[in-house]
Amino acid sequence: MSGVPVQSPEAARLAAPLEEEELARLEASVQAALEAGSGEGLEVLGYGEISTVLALNTAAGRFACKRLPVFPGEERLSRYAEVFASYLGALAEAGVEPLESRLQATPARGGGLAVYCVQPVLEPGCLGPRYLASCGEEEGRQLLEQIVSTTARAAGERLGLDAQLSNWALSHGELVYLDVTTPLLKDEQGRQRLDTRLFTASLPWALRGLVQALLLEEILGHYHAHRPALLDLAANLYKERLERWVPVVLELANRVVDPPLTVDEARRYYRSDARMWELLQRLRRLDRAWQRWVRRRVYPFLLPARIER
Ligand SMILES: Nc1ncnc2c1ncn2[C@@H]1O[C@H](COP(=O)(O)OP(=O)(O)OP(=O)(O)O)[C@@H](O)[C@H]1O
Ligand SMILES: [Mg+2]
Repeated sequence: MSGVPVQSPEAARLAAPLEEEELARLEASVQAALEAGSGEGLEVLGYGEISTVLALNTAAGRFACKRLPVFPGEERLSRYAEVFASYLGALAEAGVEPLESRLQATPARGGGLAVYCVQPVLEPGCLGPRYLASCGEEEGRQLLEQIVSTTARAAGERLGLDAQLSNWALSHGELVYLDVTTPLLKDEQGRQRLDTRLFTASLPWALRGLVQALLLEEILGHYHAHRPALLDLAANLYKERLERWVPVVLELANRVVDPPLTVDEARRYYRSDARMWELLQRLRRLDRAWQRWVRRRVYPFLLPARIER
């Protein structure tokens, strides 16, 4: 594909693991930011609904580090690492190129392990939303065609995929998938192999059980079939302010989806999805205020500022 920004060579590969001290230094600055209740001292590359992506500059190059919830110990981490590795393998097998990703851990203050998914940093112009925003008709269609066909081929009973544009990038002209920290992989019995409790830990205590049920049934279920995954891709373009591409995605998706998707369905889906995430983020902010001002505790997650939806 033409017009792909060239990356600096040191950002292109994860040559070696991060030095222990480098990761400890990053974690110390995250702790300082959490204690101060501000993002000062951190270079944030992006916020997802769940994780925060930080840049780390080292002598060996620049890395993207996704901080996962703190793990209670080695055993939970090794179980997660196993699912994570299987997921990367399953994606590649299904024709999805995952961005090079490695898990690294360092002791967390107050016990447990701070775990990071480390990746090469992609230039902003390579990331799906920014790239599409700069595309002409033909180039944009090519990118979306690739995303739609890759998703249709890969998302199924066993392997799940979050096809939203913000999870894709063009690295050296190749389509890569970067959102690998929530490995969506089911076992033979059709159960999610991921320990989803690790991820609901960032929610207020009273809500965890409810969201746990929701997460498994409703949210994660969407990623295991190509119709809902493609509906999600189309609907999310409203959030990205790229709605002019919605009809293109629908047209491409409708070659493989039955019953066909419509603009109306995408709009309705977007509204209810946006409401759900907005509610969850608001509850997390409330919980943070409660922990900070009433319980006088350090709130342990970096939350995004208000997301425009
Ligand atoms: N390697 C990277 N280089 C540059 N920016 C990145 C990189 N990885 C992620 N980002 C930015 O951070 C955003 C969020 O990343 P990602 O999708 O991995 O997290 P997420 O959506 O929170 O994932 P999950 O919900 O599964 O935890 C991306 O959409 C992108 O803008
Ligand atoms: Mg994402």
